Amino acid sequence: LENGLARTPPMGWMPFERFQCTVDCVHSPRDCISESLFKRTADLLVSEGYAAMGFQYLIIDDCWMESFRDTITQKLLPDRERFPSGMAALSHYIHGRGLKFGIYHDVGRKTCMFGGPGALGHFQLDAQTFADWGADYVKLDGCYATGYERDTGYPAFGKAMNRTGRQMVYSCSWPFYKEKPDYRLIAKHCNLWRFATDIKDSYTSVFEIMELYRRNQQQLLAHAGPGRWNDPDMLVLGNFHLSYDASRLQMAIWSVIAAPLIMTNDLETVRPEIKQLLQNREIIAINQDLLGIPGRCVRTSKHFQVWLRPVTPVNDLGKHSFAVAFVNRGNFSHCPLCPRQFEVVLEHLGLDSPTGYYVVDLFKSSRHLGMFKPNDAFSTRINPEGVTFYKFTVAPLL
Ligand code: GLA
Repeated sequence: LENGLARTPPMGWMPFERFQCTVDCVHSPRDCISESLFKRTADLLVSEGYAAMGFQYLIIDDCWMESFRDTITQKLLPDRERFPSGMAALSHYIHGRGLKFGIYHDVGRKTCMFGGPGALGHFQLDAQTFADWGADYVKLDGCYATGYERDTGYPAFGKAMNRTGRQMVYSCSWPFYKEKPDYRLIAKHCNLWRFATDIKDSYTSVFEIMELYRRNQQQLLAHAGPGRWNDPDMLVLGNFHLSYDASRLQMAIWSVIAAPLIMTNDLETVRPEIKQLLQNREIIAINQDLLGIPGRCVRTSKHFQVWLRPVTPVNDLGKHSFAVAFVNRGNFSHCPLCPRQFEVVLEHLGLDSPTGYYVVDLFKSSRHLGMFKPNDAFSTRINPEGVTFYKFTVAPLL
């Protein structure tokens, strides 16, 4: 969507995978969807250094609203007990921390998990309500609607948002509900779009989403770029089930495919080594690269995959630099889950600049590995169900 927003993939935080639809604040005071969760997270985004790295959108997911609209004005109402100060006040608090405020809604009759009132029949009113609250980002889900209602509703809600005059990033779950999404059309109307199922806190789920991307990458790539991004769902780093290597894997691949980096975790309990991954400056720079060209999987086998993204700088020959991720899928007959060596001649991956490439290891604070020419072999040792990730910076013409 060309609305001047999301020129690079949005970065931020959203509660859904970690906190689900916890509404019982009596028994789960720290985990329930409430203004205190969002205020605490806003504070932590800043104090723990995430905001400075670019994680700026704090997005409320489902389960924030009352199950009825205001009887007189028909406006949406935040849950009185969990959001006693109201949304304008919460938004003010978030903005006061230098962050941006996002909110969830549904294009159909009801929201997905909570079943709160959906937008159908109230597009302009709801878009205006969000604008009045100072929203900077709207995630519009697609439950409880027919295919026709979604196909007309997503563009119409976007127009309603536009009519408010407030600049809001538009996140659509539209393709997720379609068998054969028309990505050209979706990219015209949305800043980002969910193309995969809800992510879970596991390597299997991360890998399944990678596979879904890989199988559809021709199409997915064609329509993504500045202002329009494929959304494979949240970063699950910092929770319970991703190993350190799987956490590296999600960071690397989400950066290669130019995915939004939206965390879902309890920022108070993220372990230091995971926080370091989430705040890896060089990897975030790959994700946010200004060429805005999403990457792809260029090699796949039972055991290994190679993922590659063209990035800046570009040299005088018009040759790009590249971020390259090498994945060890395991599946070996002897010791399926052991570290393995992988070797490839660079020009076989399309790295063919005669000037060569300076290589740094993105997970080792840009440790320099020297200069490689297109016909050099590059060798890397990869942990099981893990990844190594390098930047190949193209050398200039002398
Ligand atoms: C759907 C979405 C999720 C989340 C839930 C909330 O499942 O895909 O990301 O927003 O709804 O109900």
